[in-house]
Amino acid sequence: MIRSKNISPIRVGLLGSLLVFALAVGCQKANAPDPDPGPTDPGGGGIVYKPTQVTLRQPANFPAMVYDLSQNPLTVEGVALGKSLFYDAQLSRDTTVSCGFCHQQFAGFGHSDHALSHGIDSKFGTRNVPGLQNLGWDREFFWDGGVTSLDELPIAPIQNPVEMDLKFSEALSRVQKSPKYPPMFQAAFGSDTVTTARFLKAISQFLLTLVSADSRYDKYVRKEAGGDLSSDELAGLTLFQQKCATCHATDLFTDKSYRNNGLPVSSINDQGRYRITLNEADRLKFKVPSLRNVEKTFPYMHDGRFTTLEQVIDHYRTGVQDSPSLDPALKANGQLGISLTDIQRNQLVAFLKTLTDNTFISNRAFSPN
Ligand code: HEC
Ligand code: HEC
Repeated sequence: MIRSKNISPIRVGLLGSLLVFALAVGCQKANAPDPDPGPTDPGGGGIVYKPTQVTLRQPANFPAMVYDLSQNPLTVEGVALGKSLFYDAQLSRDTTVSCGFCHQQFAGFGHSDHALSHGIDSKFGTRNVPGLQNLGWDREFFWDGGVTSLDELPIAPIQNPVEMDLKFSEALSRVQKSPKYPPMFQAAFGSDTVTTARFLKAISQFLLTLVSADSRYDKYVRKEAGGDLSSDELAGLTLFQQKCATCHATDLFTDKSYRNNGLPVSSINDQGRYRITLNEADRLKFKVPSLRNVEKTFPYMHDGRFTTLEQVIDHYRTGVQDSPSLDPALKANGQLGISLTDIQRNQLVAFLKTLTDNTFISNRAFSPN
């Protein structure tokens, strides 16, 4: 996923630091620009601030990334810090719930089996945990687009009373007090002081490395080895392009718009995008989710109402409900839903499973240490 440009030990004694300095000068490697300049060695403990730049991959079949990396250049140290925070349950009030508790790698960073998000004290939220991948290509987050900056997003789950339920200031102070983190902040940002900006930038750095672009479908599109699709999968791809790709567009499998795909309103009565804009036209609209790793991110939809992909497609075939905000694509020619035969449904499911990226799901760089 990520390529290191420069390999150098970071925490070394005084003698070692002189040696590393000599090596670094000798190699003339480009340093990452300092995202957050701080004193080089405030404690005088011989800690050299020399972060190793990471180049984020831009897959050939993706549109251009939208996250502004110049504001937060990725480094090996920043990513490692962000990963540590992502998997740290200290960031929840009773130290039981980490980000990774809900966003599980084997489930494409969704939460397997739980329809609704399940957090501290076993409390349930009102929405399904979305899978995480390719976040650098997103400007708006959550099912309703309620968060508009990746760098601010972690404050929401940390403070949410049914997720991690910890005051953000308390989270920062726990991190500052732990023996583990100040040296990691020093290595990543040149200062061992835990600030809001550094904390959030580090988590973004880790999240940005979660690039999923090596499914069998990707290899097929890029004409790489291992990119063979069966005749059923190819038939499914054609059907997908005809019937689904207006909304699940591009190789990110979403056009990032908010749409009503005709789900009957449940007892939770989630009004989706309307909650953010208070615009009547946005009632019952939800962000079109990416379908990458969709085989692994069940259950499906904003409230996890469907368990299988067959159920999802049956919804599009026979379950679509009319309402003022129903997407026009789902009532073309006065007919509700998308017509598909049983065989075509199975071909679509076969195609959707080619979007599973096993390299991503098993990548040790994304797992807890
Ligand atoms: C209790 C379960 C839970 C925990 C803990 C949790 N999340 Fe989430 N996460 C969710 C749910 C549910 C959503 C969708 C929220 C919504 O749509 O309102 C979400 C959405 C997200 C998204 C947006 C994905 C998208 O495509 O819109 C990101 C990124 C994310 N979480 C990262 C994190 C990070 C980082 C942490 C830790 C600081 C974290 N989450 C902790 C349940 C959780
Ligand atoms: C009009 C736009 C539109 C069309 C056409 C469309 N979808 Fe969707 N799709 C959505 C939206 C919006 C959601 C999320 C709805 C929600 O949760 O409330 C969604 C959700 C899904 C999900 C659940 C993903 C998850 O992570 O929960 C799957 C799977 C899916 N669609 C597959 C398809 C397939 C296959 C087709 C073609 C047969 C299709 N969609 C056609 C808009 C569309």
